[in-house]
Amino acid sequence: MSESNPSDDIRWSSRWLFVLAAAGSAVGLGNIWKFPYVAGENGGGAFVLIYLVCVGLVGAPIMMAEIALGREGRSSPITTMTKLAASAGRNSQWSIIGWMGVIAGVMILSFYAVIAGWALKYIGVLASDEFKNAGAEVVESTFNGLLASPVEMILWQTVFMVGTIWIVARGVSKGLEKAIRWFMPLLFVMLIVLLGYSLRSGGFEQGWQFMFDFKWEDVGPGTWIMALGQAFFTLSLGMGTMMVYGSYVPSEAKIGSTVATIVALDTVVAISAGLVIFPLVFVNNLDVAQGPGLMFVTMPLAFSQLPFGSIFGSVFFLLVSFAAITSAISLTEPAISYLVENYNSKRWRVAVGLGFLCWLLGLGTVFSFNIWADLKPVFGLNFFDLVDQISSNILLPLGGLLIAIFIAWRLPRKTVLGQIEIESERIWTLWKVVTGIVAPASVLVVFLNTFVPFF
Ligand code: PFF
Repeated sequence: MSESNPSDDIRWSSRWLFVLAAAGSAVGLGNIWKFPYVAGENGGGAFVLIYLVCVGLVGAPIMMAEIALGREGRSSPITTMTKLAASAGRNSQWSIIGWMGVIAGVMILSFYAVIAGWALKYIGVLASDEFKNAGAEVVESTFNGLLASPVEMILWQTVFMVGTIWIVARGVSKGLEKAIRWFMPLLFVMLIVLLGYSLRSGGFEQGWQFMFDFKWEDVGPGTWIMALGQAFFTLSLGMGTMMVYGSYVPSEAKIGSTVATIVALDTVVAISAGLVIFPLVFVNNLDVAQGPGLMFVTMPLAFSQLPFGSIFGSVFFLLVSFAAITSAISLTEPAISYLVENYNSKRWRVAVGLGFLCWLLGLGTVFSFNIWADLKPVFGLNFFDLVDQISSNILLPLGGLLIAIFIAWRLPRKTVLGQIEIESERIWTLWKVVTGIVAPASVLVVFLNTFVPFF
């Protein structure tokens, strides 16, 4: 199927590099502030256990499906789905999966760049010693000051966007690989250093307990839904990202073990991030604040009171920015690969155009924190919440659901077996049940959860 592909020359130079790239996409803002907080508030160890079940039963099968489809199609998600549906004698409408992914990518990147911009700003803020021995009010007012200033937010959003597009424009081997080769190992080293720091902070035991004590009384039906939703976002599933990265995977790489490695790396980073954050929160008697507050108020405050806090604090935000940029790169790839292959456009031109579109849409997120804060046009949601809800909670689960159904029920068995190493009839049946029934049914639950509160 790959003869007609204009991007045949594009391949990751090794399986390991693909693992790093996919882990780079998966590990991002979702791991570093969302996972620890959600885990702590939803039953700690019980949530972690449920999350792992969701990752295993839904996340991993869908990631395998995406990579398999991508490697079979060897094109952008839109073209891959069109080609595979045609060759299996199915309706060409399946290409909608690719289109939804492009739209979700633009929407997610628009707000992702704004939040990542905050992290960029905080590298400098922490390094400058501005917070040395500062109290909560100072740290809080600095953060609120940032939120209140559209000009400053736009400045940092622009810096992040330009950096992302610069890397993307350089292409798979020159840009993506080079960036990922440096960023990912550095990120792991930084996490280990910060973990060591946290271990000696005096609050490690409490932080550990907060994350891992099995608080079953906090587990309700909502916990499963939170865990499943988290699995989707954090593993970058449902929008063709893994499909397009999969299209660059060498034919000989085994998908099963590759996915296991990516999922393990993502989970280790999420758990480590929690183990870095919470001990510092507890040792400083701080509140486990929600969302942006956890990272942009609590962390600087914790670092401000610790020895060498300015160095470790700026390293922490550097780490967050690295994680965000490797995810941001992957958010553009479904759209860029399609535009490059279909319109024969220059990669840099397409990248700049797409970057500008995301930047423009991102202004809505910037304004949601200040001049548009009271503007809640639909379902009482402001612009940022609306873009986030539509992309993360509707488009990603829907994409995942369709991907699982397509590979399990619409693709010939021979094609699937050509991509995924399944040795026996029993394993085939297991694969079919998990991918074709368990995964889509679970996604349906997340999906209903998103819609039901609105009606
Ligand atoms: N996985 C990223 C995170 O956890 O921050 C976010 C993300 C990246 C979602 C790429 C979807 C995607 F395609």
